[in-house]
Amino acid sequence: MIGRIKTVGVLTSGGDAPGMNAALRAVTRSAIYNGFKVKGIYRGYRGLVEDEIVDFEAKDVSGIIHRGGTILRTARCKEFRTPEGRKKAYENMQKQGIDALVVIGGDGTLTGAWQFAREFDVPIVGLPGTIDNDLNGTDHTIGYDTALNTIMWCVDRIRDTANSHERLFFIEVMGRDAGFLALNGAIAGGAEAAIIPEISIENDQLAQLIENGFRTTKRSSIVLVAESPVTGGAMGLAERVRNEYPQYDVRVTILGHLQRGGSPTAQDRILASRMGEAAIDALVEGQRNVMIGDDDEQMVYVPFSKALSSDNKKTIDRHLLDTLSHLAI
Ligand code: F6P
Repeated sequence: MIGRIKTVGVLTSGGDAPGMNAALRAVTRSAIYNGFKVKGIYRGYRGLVEDEIVDFEAKDVSGIIHRGGTILRTARCKEFRTPEGRKKAYENMQKQGIDALVVIGGDGTLTGAWQFAREFDVPIVGLPGTIDNDLNGTDHTIGYDTALNTIMWCVDRIRDTANSHERLFFIEVMGRDAGFLALNGAIAGGAEAAIIPEISIENDQLAQLIENGFRTTKRSSIVLVAESPVTGGAMGLAERVRNEYPQYDVRVTILGHLQRGGSPTAQDRILASRMGEAAIDALVEGQRNVMIGDDDEQMVYVPFSKALSSDNKKTIDRHLLDTLSHLAI
């Protein structure tokens, strides 16, 4: 395979995540170390469709390991979802002499990569870059640890007001349809509870919390809520409390994109560096259509079919819910 691949294209797509730059640096430098040429593709798949592609040297990724966001910029490209868009993308790849791609992003990015790889027989390796931590086959995604630390930092600060005013705070965090950030953010922040989509499908978590008297021994409460129509979101839950349990003085903080920014933690920088190097190793070994995962600290190749499978979705560890409630008494 190394005989056939001469030039590797790299892009970041979907929501930005802290550590994407560290991954980009690792992909670029490992590729050059292994004798490949590298091309940076701007704005995710949009850059492939619109031919926004530049040569990348080792120096082009200097001084970025500590920076949040992505120097290649990112986008969610509607055109790449159409056969015509993907055809244009393939033609630009050929024009630019790109033989293989490394794509860094979340489930939408990898879904696009898998489709493109099947249609045009392009070798693609994916890196899981999303704060949501919701991809199968990897213990962690790039950006998750940084976002979790940001959430913890915010909870610490909100607690001052919650305690001083004896209030119930709902803090809404990202995660799309996954509760990893909410649950682990709640444990790290010493919150009283987490309301997450995985459990809300089965139970009315708010009613349970109130019935169990989650505030009996405390002056204030902090509940982390995963954004999701299934949980009702922090605003929806606060509205319910105002109507059904008016004895509580309730407030809402939606952390929003605050969680996606900032300098990546050491853990995310190391993960991104290792995964970036593993992506190039994968191409050297003739792998294609795989995502790099971390399995108990080991870098592994996860077929796109497994990483994106909805039958076998990565699940939250339910023991952590018990831990949270036992420690919140
Ligand atoms: O997938 C990452 C993520 O931050 C999700 O947690 C969130 O639902 C979504 O992206 C928000 O996307 P946007 O920045 O396009 O509003």
